[in-house]
Amino acid sequence: MNSQRRERKDAHIENYLRSKSRESTLLDNVYIEHNAISDVSLDEIDTTIEFMGKKISMPLMVDAMTGGGSTSVSINEDLSSICESLNIPMAVGSESIAITDEESRESFELVKYKEDLFRIGNLGFEREFNDFLFARDLIEAQAMQVHLNLAQELVMKEGDNSYHSSLSLITKLVNDFPYPIIVKETGSGISKPVAKKLVDAGVKYIDVAGKGGTNFIEIEDLRDFEVDYSDLYGWGIPTAKSIIDTRSVSDDIFVIASGGIKTAMDIVKAIIIGADMTAMSGEVLNYLLHGGYEACESFLKEINLKIKIIMALLGVRSIKELKNIDYKLTGQLKELVED
Ligand SMILES: Cc1cc2nc3c(=O)[nH]c(=O)nc-3n(C[C@H](O)[C@H](O)[C@H](O)COP(=O)(O)O)c2cc1C
Repeated sequence: MNSQRRERKDAHIENYLRSKSRESTLLDNVYIEHNAISDVSLDEIDTTIEFMGKKISMPLMVDAMTGGGSTSVSINEDLSSICESLNIPMAVGSESIAITDEESRESFELVKYKEDLFRIGNLGFEREFNDFLFARDLIEAQAMQVHLNLAQELVMKEGDNSYHSSLSLITKLVNDFPYPIIVKETGSGISKPVAKKLVDAGVKYIDVAGKGGTNFIEIEDLRDFEVDYSDLYGWGIPTAKSIIDTRSVSDDIFVIASGGIKTAMDIVKAIIIGADMTAMSGEVLNYLLHGGYEACESFLKEINLKIKIIMALLGVRSIKELKNIDYKLTGQLKELVED
């Protein structure tokens, strides 16, 4: 059982790297305009934001990916060092395996030795309250993510599709858990009605993880040749729509934009249309596994530089000002968000 779960963790990474489907986040349908008389110079620009009381260097974190598999130790070691040195938060992958498999714990625990790293734990909503406490303590996390992955569970051979009580379990967690709770999707996005229910349940942090990046229907499909699920690869809410819809529900929640975030332009546009922060998984993994530690670190440093360049071109000095930049929606995104 444990070895099967470890193999599954490795297969997710391998299949992510093999996956081919390219859906759109629709962030290309967000139009922003050049400011030819911007008087903002690069050294005046401040990309820092405050996240759960900590100042971080830019509105980006590395989102949940791994732990438990044979390659997880080195991946989590590298990602946690890079995130600590760049002062951006990092979420570990689902810690579910660590509850029963003692050997797998090392691959998670190692992040707690990165003392300056903002660490976020991760479990599925169906886990017991005590499991969340265990997962939090394992990495001494400052916050916990609760993931929703219905699409993955439904196409996964050994998947769990008993989702009927997800909202009541989430409500209990947000009300009683002693650390902040982030509710996140895993690539299919959060709709407006779902965001409303989450907010009514007391959720303050939503990571939309929309369509346009990592595709878990394909990742699972590549593990199992019995059924061909390729006709479902297009399922999900494009990330740009999910950001707009989630933000429209409340100004008082913290919206994390993820799902297909790959460039500084994606980050800037996500913030302009309503996100407070963004998160990246797959693209960071690509740089780490294809290019190595330095390539991955340089990629993230360049993202920070390019965010500054775009902010200079827009004529804004802070992320707060960036949120007030005018924009227009075009194409399919415009059609989808019009009521
Ligand atoms: C290899 C891999 C493993 C993942 N494992 C988890 C996980 O254990 N828990 C989770 O909440 N999300 C997991 N995710 C989903 C990501 O956190 C993220 O929501 C999703 O990949 C969309 O972002 P992206 O397009 O930037 O990859 C995983 C993603 C990848 C690529």
